[in-house]
Amino acid sequence: MTKDATVKLSQGDSPISALRKAHDAQLQLCDRLEEIADSLPDRVNRQKCIYASRALGPMIRETHRFEEDVVFPLIADRLKHDRTIAATLGRLRSEHCEDECFAEELSEALHALGTGRVEINIEATGYMLRGFFEATRRHIAFESEHLLSNEVLSAAGLTGDDHSRDDQSS
Ligand SMILES: [Fe+2]
Repeated sequence: MTKDATVKLSQGDSPISALRKAHDAQLQLCDRLEEIADSLPDRVNRQKCIYASRALGPMIRETHRFEEDVVFPLIADRLKHDRTIAATLGRLRSEHCEDECFAEELSEALHALGTGRVEINIEATGYMLRGFFEATRRHIAFESEHLLSNEVLSAAGLTGDDHSRDDQSS
C-alpha cells in the first residue's frame, strides 16, 4: 500500500492524469478503511490496520501537495479570469488542511487498533473511520465532477492524457 503514496509523473503523463491515478489510489484506501470499519469490533484484521495506518498520512499529504503545487496553479493560471475557479480552489485547499489533521488522528487510532491497545474506544474509532472515508470520497467526487470536468479542462486547454497534448492546446 505504501508504494501508492507517492504521486509520480510517469513519462508522458499529464498532471491531470497523474491526479486521477492518485484519486484512484485514495479511493482504494477508502475501501480498505470501510472494510476495517465493517469488521469492528470482533473481526478486525490487525495487519490491515497497521498497513492502513502507515499508508494514510503519506498518501493524503503527497496527493494534496501535488494538487496544490502542480495542478491547482496550472488550472488557476489557465483560468485566471474565472473567479469561481479561484473560490473553488480556496475551498479545496481548506478541505485538504482539515483532511490532513483528520488523517493524522485516524492513523494513530488505526495503529492503536492494529497493535491491540486495550484502551481504544471502538465506537469512536468506527465513527472516525466512516467520517474520514465518506469525506474523502465526497472531496474526490467534487474534484472529479467539477475541477476535472471536461468543461473546465477544455476551457483551460488541458486534457487528462499526455503532457504534449496539453501544451499543444494552449
Ligand atoms: Fe483534493
